[in-house]
Amino acid sequence: MDKFVIKGGNRLTGDIFVSGAKNAAVAIIPAVILSDEPCVLENVPKISDVSIGMKILAEMGASVELIDSTTFRIDATHLNNSAVPYEMARKMRASYYFLGACLGKFRKAMVSMPGGCPLGDRPIDMHLKAFEVLGATHSIDNGIVNVESDHLYGGHIYFEKVSVGATMNAILAAVKADGLTIIENAAREPHIVDLANFLNSMGADIMGAGTDVIKIRGVGYLRGTTYSIVPDQIEAGTYMIAAAATGGDVMVRNVIPKHLESITAKLRKIGVNIEEFDDSVRVWTDKPLVKTNVKTSPHPGFPTDMQPQIATLLTLVHGPSIITENIWDSRFAYVEELRRMGANISVDGKVAVIEGLGSLKGAPVKACDLRAGAALIIAGLAAEGVTEIEDIYHIERGYEDMDKKLRGIGADIEKRYFPGEPVAKSC
Ligand code: EPZ
Repeated sequence: MDKFVIKGGNRLTGDIFVSGAKNAAVAIIPAVILSDEPCVLENVPKISDVSIGMKILAEMGASVELIDSTTFRIDATHLNNSAVPYEMARKMRASYYFLGACLGKFRKAMVSMPGGCPLGDRPIDMHLKAFEVLGATHSIDNGIVNVESDHLYGGHIYFEKVSVGATMNAILAAVKADGLTIIENAAREPHIVDLANFLNSMGADIMGAGTDVIKIRGVGYLRGTTYSIVPDQIEAGTYMIAAAATGGDVMVRNVIPKHLESITAKLRKIGVNIEEFDDSVRVWTDKPLVKTNVKTSPHPGFPTDMQPQIATLLTLVHGPSIITENIWDSRFAYVEELRRMGANISVDGKVAVIEGLGSLKGAPVKACDLRAGAALIIAGLAAEGVTEIEDIYHIERGYEDMDKKLRGIGADIEKRYFPGEPVAKSC
């Protein structure tokens, strides 16, 4: 199996470049199905979730052409069916976006139930409720979600809970429905805005994305477009924390500073220096970092996808910090792995109390999910000694060339192949 092997202690310095946003790409790739002409997508991240999405499109009959390493030309105008291949869909949680896109285009869709996830229960009841409001019926047979409608009409969708996925799927299903759709209590993440911008660049009529009320007037035709995917705010935040954790001085490039506001504010509170430029941020430390409490919340609050990373940083300062995870039921699986590295963290439900001891020690650990894996890399970079991280396929789902990018700013990290049994117990 592949592992990352990290020798900790190097200060990270220099320039690191952020790729296109995973959570925008996994929605925009299915959205191409809605277009009536071929599309070109630029700044597409080279990650496994994107490869799976492109393979699903090709399997469904689209032509997918790689123009260069981050640019694809996709012609989905001759798709031969609205059924997403079962085994492929199971490999990517976000394959549920094919439900909204196929419903919006073909008035029917069949996609396998999204796979399980270490973050806890991940229902799609709000996605299905949004489809119902637009006139669709749904059923689940043999692990496959079926949605269909003779006709899609605009409607008034109110989400009792903020949901990124349900907001995205409601937009995908409504963009060609007849009449006006209003989505209330919509998610406001940058990737929601990116999906709306992509669809509007094809002639859709979506207003208010980025606020909690989105209005969509259905259109009959969506022309082709060339669209560049927004920079990944979570990848950027991950590298900002890696710089702070190693006492480094790093320019994180290809970012939109406004998307990083809650991360920047929290890091400044911890004592990290951050200077903002048009499309980059400089991150450096020149004094001891201090304990701080963190509560995750939907955008523009502190992102849950940055929670494991900032928790790792807080193990390196002195004193108690409290992390409250308000989005997911169980997003502390990584804590057990950090304990192997000497962290002193207690978890009770949605709250983790970190007794910062100022340092970590390298150890064999296991990535439980994408962001937990990223946090363990940060831990290894800051730790004394060597850290081996297994199950790095989780990390490669959402971070493009992470080891290579980190080596570019001085990290001692490499990907090695180890035949034989896993070293660390599962988490
Ligand atoms: C998206 O997941 C992201 N994934 C997640 O990022 C991110 O953590 C999450 O949004 C929150 O920002 C993608 O964009 C592919 P939600 P999603 O619907 O859409 C509950 C990463 O690391 N809920 O906003 O699945 C749900 O259980 C990943 O990049 C329902 O109850 O998240 C959760 O408690 C991890 N019913 C809360 O809402 C539903 O129908 C927020 O979930 C849908 C969600």
